Amino acid sequence: MDVFPQGKYRELHLELSGLLTEDWVSNLANFSAAVFTSLPDLNWCGFYLVREAYGPLHLKLGPFQGRPACLDIPFERGVCGKAARTRSTVIVKDVHEFLGHIACDERSRSELVVPLIKDSRVIGVLDLDSPTVGRFSSADAVGLESLVALLLEKTSWPAQI
Ligand code: SME
Repeated sequence: MDVFPQGKYRELHLELSGLLTEDWVSNLANFSAAVFTSLPDLNWCGFYLVREAYGPLHLKLGPFQGRPACLDIPFERGVCGKAARTRSTVIVKDVHEFLGHIACDERSRSELVVPLIKDSRVIGVLDLDSPTVGRFSSADAVGLESLVALLLEKTSWPAQI
């Protein structure tokens, strides 16, 4: 990401630059905590990961903040699956209008998902939920993509997760 983030995302970028280590589990945990407690109007923030044990087209619940969530999301399902499948950030203005949305928390009304792509391979997604319809803008997408780029760069990923 060549665009340095602005505003709240600039602060988060600086905070995470100091917070992130090499350890992938610690990084995913602290990343979700920093984003969840810094950005307003979220009810869930966390990761779904492609795990060796479950195959390449399957997302498994990873570190997160918020209410307990569903454990398994195949690539062909949900907003997370769409982001993983298309390798692109997905913004859903109103989850009730998204066919196939997976409702883990009935308070969620809008959603933003950023894929994690390392060495051309999707290794997971970052998922944010909000109780407000239309919470996420394209500026949020750019900001979160820059934070994910920092996470991918700083972390020493194991060959298999
Ligand atoms: N709503 C997501 C599922 C994950 S939860 O929001 C935490 C989806 O449709 O993929």
